[in-house]
Amino acid sequence: MKALIGWIDERIPLTKTYNKHVGQYPTPKNFNFWYIFGFIAMVVLVNQILTGIWLTMNYNPSGDGAFASIEYIMRDVEYGWLLRYMHSTGASAFFVVIYLHMYRGLIYGSYQKPRELIWLFGMLIFLVLMAEAFMGYLLPWGQMSYWGAQVIISLFGAIPVIGDDLTLWIRGDYVISGATLNRFFALHVIALPLVLVLLVFLHIVALHEVGSNNPDGIEIKANKDENGWPKDGIPFHPYFTVKDLAAIVGFLFFFCWVMFFFPDGGGYFLEAPNFEAANPLKTPEHIAPVWYFTPFYAILRAVPDKLLGVVMMGLSIAVLFVLPWLDRCKVKSIRYRSTIHKLNIAQFVICFIILGILGALPSTPALTILAQVTSFGYFAYFVLLWIYSKNEKTKPVPERVTK
Ligand code: HEM
Repeated sequence: MKALIGWIDERIPLTKTYNKHVGQYPTPKNFNFWYIFGFIAMVVLVNQILTGIWLTMNYNPSGDGAFASIEYIMRDVEYGWLLRYMHSTGASAFFVVIYLHMYRGLIYGSYQKPRELIWLFGMLIFLVLMAEAFMGYLLPWGQMSYWGAQVIISLFGAIPVIGDDLTLWIRGDYVISGATLNRFFALHVIALPLVLVLLVFLHIVALHEVGSNNPDGIEIKANKDENGWPKDGIPFHPYFTVKDLAAIVGFLFFFCWVMFFFPDGGGYFLEAPNFEAANPLKTPEHIAPVWYFTPFYAILRAVPDKLLGVVMMGLSIAVLFVLPWLDRCKVKSIRYRSTIHKLNIAQFVICFIILGILGALPSTPALTILAQVTSFGYFAYFVLLWIYSKNEKTKPVPERVTK
């Protein structure tokens, strides 16, 4: 074995890479619960790719055959139901995990210098993930697949001058049709997963270049022992491989519980109208996107003007890209930041959750006002942060990590 590894090492840097990124990667010893989600996201990504490959073996990407092929997978293919539910539950789990992962970045200031690129790659991942999920949802060719895509693609029509041509170009037809399904299939199964994997690779490369942040927001590299090893760092393996393994067991417990007992997530993971085949002549009573899009959909609907709504929805995601430059505070972690910052994060999270709930409900005049107020709160987070973070009154940051 040693000889074999030696032979490989002379040709590619196997041991060197393993040590740099796993065996001797100095990891802050105060990592807590919030630090498990990056690894879980990776596991979910692998789950999506593997179950996706096997689903593709029996799926038929055509307007005539798609819905029936899903029924075939569910009823006749051996363990087809399991593959499908692993994939559909995985899609929702992916967003739960990613939202928690992003929230961790928010509270511990992990997007701040020198980790801006990690955050930017993360935001690109988030964008591609949303496109990936949106296209995947068209594939079962159910009522909500069809009409959801109809609503979202028609949004591009609000763009002046090029709007109509752009929607035609995206659909590949004058209406959503088999042609749209075909191209969404190609993008969903090959193009976007390739981009996702590449972005995750770059995300980790960027992370390992500067090193991980931690709940205290201290740079552990600033405090090294005589061997050049950070005093507050411990090797990733075995300490965090074991911790991540325990986290995965906990995660799988919840995952399997949902997958085996509530695979439709109470109508939120797989919506009821989607168990009916797509019918271009029958619009469902209430069209709502899947839960992970609803906060942004609620911002869109809160604005009475269609074009302005699309712009605000775009802005609500775009503003996250510039977060590292909006926060001008030198202190990273919420632990040592001001009360106003804590309150601002709290109101942001509350507004985001309320928007998420509103986006799934039919709109009424009263709910629209609530959506406007919470959309305001969402954007106010960024504006206020930019204003107060310049001269924020922070607590003294310890030199070494605490617990
Ligand atoms: C497929 C999706 C993703 C995967 C597989 C992934 C993976 C990871 C992993 C393994 C880590 C190191 C462990 C950890 O800190 O949890 C990490 C760190 C990080 N990720 Fe992600 N990530 C993803 C998406 C995102 C997104 C959407 C964002 C934000 C927009 C993001 C922002 C960050 C940041 C800022 C860090 C550094 C955290 C710190 O050191 O405190 N990631 N990611």
